[in-house]
Amino acid sequence: MNKELSLSSAEMRQLGYQVIDIIIDHFDSLPDKPVLNIGSPESLRAQFDQALPEQPGDVDSVLSLVRDQILKNISHGDHPRFFAFIPGPSNFVGAMADALAAGFNVCASNWLEASGPAEIERICIRWLCDLCALPPESGGTFLSGGSMANLTAIAVARHIKLGQADSSSQVYYADQAHMSISRGLRVLGFASHQMTRISTNNSFRMDTDLLRTRIEQDKKEGQLPFCVIATAGTTNTGAVDNLAVIAEICQANNMWLHVDGAFGAGAILSVKGQQQLKGIELADSITIDPHKWLFQPIETGCLLVRDQRNLRQTFDESPEYLSDVDAADEEINFYQHTVQLTRQTRALKLWMSLHVFGAQAFREAIDSGFANAEYIENRISGMTDWEIVTRANLGIVTFRHAPADYSATELNELNQSISDRLSETNLAFVATTILKGVKTLRMCPINPRTTRSDIDNTLAQLDRIASDITGHLS
Ligand SMILES: Cc1ncc(COP(=O)(O)O)c(C=O)c1O
Repeated sequence: MNKELSLSSAEMRQLGYQVIDIIIDHFDSLPDKPVLNIGSPESLRAQFDQALPEQPGDVDSVLSLVRDQILKNISHGDHPRFFAFIPGPSNFVGAMADALAAGFNVCASNWLEASGPAEIERICIRWLCDLCALPPESGGTFLSGGSMANLTAIAVARHIKLGQADSSSQVYYADQAHMSISRGLRVLGFASHQMTRISTNNSFRMDTDLLRTRIEQDKKEGQLPFCVIATAGTTNTGAVDNLAVIAEICQANNMWLHVDGAFGAGAILSVKGQQQLKGIELADSITIDPHKWLFQPIETGCLLVRDQRNLRQTFDESPEYLSDVDAADEEINFYQHTVQLTRQTRALKLWMSLHVFGAQAFREAIDSGFANAEYIENRISGMTDWEIVTRANLGIVTFRHAPADYSATELNELNQSISDRLSETNLAFVATTILKGVKTLRMCPINPRTTRSDIDNTLAQLDRIASDITGHLS
C-alpha cells in the first residue's frame, strides 16, 4: 500500500505532462468544440455512483475517465461563442499559476507561512485600489468570487457603522442588484423588512430620488439606514448606477456605500471603462471579480475597502494557537482580514498573467468586449423584425425578435424558443433574461478570443431560427 500517497518523480512527470497536454488541447480546440455539454443525471450516475475505491487504480485509466467523461460533461464558459451570463474567458498563464499554487499547497493565510504570496496579494490589491482611485489607506482581500465579496462587504459595513446587528438597521439596493446581495443579507441575519429594493428607471439604474425619499422616510419612522449597495455593471444590462449621486446621499446620511462591480469594475483598466465607472472612487467598498472581466480562472474574486483597517477591525481574532504568527508592522496576515483562515493564493494568477501579458494587453482585451457589444448592437439594429431592448452597455447588449403581429405573451415565448433552439444547434449559447416583464435575449461578448465571424455566425443562426419558427407559426 502506498501510505505516503506519493508517486515517483517519473510517475509525477508523466502525469503532469499528460495533464498539461490535456489543458493545452482544450485551449487549442475550444472554438471547434460544442459550447454546451450537459450530461443526463441517469447516465452520469450510472457511470460514477460507485463504492469508495479501496484499492489503487491505474493512473492512466483515471486520467482518461477525467478527460473523456468528467471534463466532457462541462459547458464552456471560456468558449468564444458562450455569450450567456457573465462568461469566464480565463487565460492559460492564470491556470498555470493555479497549478503552482496547488502544487506548493500555498497557505496564503499569514506572513509566516506565505510572505511571498502575501506581498503579491498586497501589490495586486494596491494596483486595483489605485485603478479605482481609492486613497492610499485603502486595501482589500482576495476571495472566491463576487458573492463572497458582497457578503463580506455587508459584514464590514455593519460592523463599522453599527458595531452589531440591530433589527432597525436598513440596507438599500436596486431591483437590478445581483441576487448575491439579498442572499448575503439573509445569511448575515437581516430580515426582509430590513432590505429595501429601490426601483430602477428606464435605463435600469437605481432611481436616486426614490432612494433619497425612502431613507428620509425610514429615518422619520425611527429606522437606522446604514448602507446602500449600488451596482457598477448589472448582470442583466450592464447598467451602472449613478454612483456620484448615491455617494452624496450616503455622505449626507452617514451611510456606507458598497459598489458591486463584480462584473463591471474590471473594466476600470481601460479608458472607456474608467469613463463609464465614474464615481466608483467614492465607494467605501468595491467588489471586483478578476474571474470575470480580468480573465482569470474561477475562483478569483476581490473586495476592496476604502480603509484597510476596517477589514481587520471586523474579522480579527487572536487565538493562543496563532500567537506565533503575529505580524510585525509591514507584514500582513490576510486571515485577519477575512472569514477564511486557510486560504489559497488567488492573487498569484492575476499577478502572473499581468506580468506575462502586460496591462496594455488587458486593456485591449477589455476594449474588445466593448467593441463586440457595440458591433452586435449595430448588426441587430439592421436586421428585419429584431429590436434592441438595451443598447451596448459595459459589454452587454439585450435584444429580441419582435414581429409586429405577435402579442406580448407570444413574443416572450418566441424569444425563449429562439434561445432554446440555438442551444440545440450548439453553435453558441445566448441565454434569456426578463427586463420589466419582457423576455429578451442577452449577449455578453467579453471573451477577447471571440471573433467577428463568431458573432456573425451566431446572429445569422439566430435569424434563421427566428424565421423558421415564425414561418411555422404564421
Ligand atoms: C453584478 C454581480 N454581482 C455579483 C455576482 C456574483 O459573483 P460570483 O458568481 O463570482 O459569486 C455576479 C455574477 O455574475 C454579478 O454579475
